[in-house]
Amino acid sequence: MFEHYSEILKDLKSHSHFRNIKDFTEKDAKYIYLKDKRLINLSSNNYLGFADNKKITEEFLNYTGDKFSLGSASARLLTGTLPVYKELEKLITTLFYKESALLFNSGYHANVGINSSIASKGDVIFSDKLNHASIIDGMRLSEAKFFRYPHNNMEALEKLLNRERKNFNNAIIVSESVFSMDGDIADIEKLVELKEKYNCLLILDEAHAFGVFGKTGLGVAETLGLTDKVDLIVGTFGKAIGSMGAFAAGNNIIINYLTNKARSFIFSTALPPINIAFSKWIIENKLPFTYEKRTKMLELGQKAGSQSHIIPLVIGDNKETVDTCDILFQNGYFTLPIRPPTVPEGTSRIRISLTVDINERELFDAISLAKSKK
Ligand SMILES: Cc1ncc(COP(=O)(O)O)c(C=O)c1O
Repeated sequence: MFEHYSEILKDLKSHSHFRNIKDFTEKDAKYIYLKDKRLINLSSNNYLGFADNKKITEEFLNYTGDKFSLGSASARLLTGTLPVYKELEKLITTLFYKESALLFNSGYHANVGINSSIASKGDVIFSDKLNHASIIDGMRLSEAKFFRYPHNNMEALEKLLNRERKNFNNAIIVSESVFSMDGDIADIEKLVELKEKYNCLLILDEAHAFGVFGKTGLGVAETLGLTDKVDLIVGTFGKAIGSMGAFAAGNNIIINYLTNKARSFIFSTALPPINIAFSKWIIENKLPFTYEKRTKMLELGQKAGSQSHIIPLVIGDNKETVDTCDILFQNGYFTLPIRPPTVPEGTSRIRISLTVDINERELFDAISLAKSKK
């Protein structure tokens, strides 16, 4: 019976699709250590350097002492809640000027829970073709019909809405703001216009933008002054915030609904209190002082031809992408080959993600090394 799986693994290997977990020995905000080799980490979501940061960890632990435990031992709706969870929810609610917010254990949990429950039989979801796997998995679990419109193509979305909206009861449009593998940005103004014209709810996943974009770091909707127009904003604490967990912010009705219906929220042990406290502490005490650094990082991304701090170097072929990562590795840069099914077939790439500690010389050195390989 194991032969079946073994054959699949062989096939993955022969197509350069095989994935394995690396043996890192250490990490800090800028470098990653593999055996004796120190590499500049160009593959991290630790955009602001808050994770793997001894100084930050020490400062936080000095502040909290032993106040917060390391396990919640229960789901939120059972006994897995304490004031700090509600305080973080209140903080998110206030920052976004929403009525309410709900914590999830991760962005994956949030998207699966939301997209599987927000629409039922007779409803419809319109989702950008390049939305994250967690959104797709959520929709697949839902009983609603879903359509995936061509990436960032607002004309195609409107055509679809025009043709299909009338055939369903409730309708949802869901998009990322900064696309995780392409670094480009959704046309949020148009999404808002379309959701109003076609009477839909709009969900915006700001996973890669929360902590990075916007005057106070809330995301792209903040930059555009549109947070009030988005019905449900999703963000994660696992990337720029350097912690773990996620949130959804919206009105009281939708948050109460998710509290009662989102199965990934209901049926999973809550994150440890210390983790919730860390997210809250970072957002309150560190995020407000990042504006200049974040802006510089975004400018650097733009200089490299992206709309954000995520810079895709699309190579196409799986093996060539893996080989290019090897060349970068030999030259002191850690990057990862991103291959299908994470990205569409034939668009394998190196996804460079900047952190505030990467400088211009390092970025362009890595890019020219990758290009010379091509
Ligand atoms: C757009 C998007 N949403 C959600 C997630 C999942 O977030 P988390 O890592 O907190 O589970 C990711 C993770 O890569 C993502 O890129």
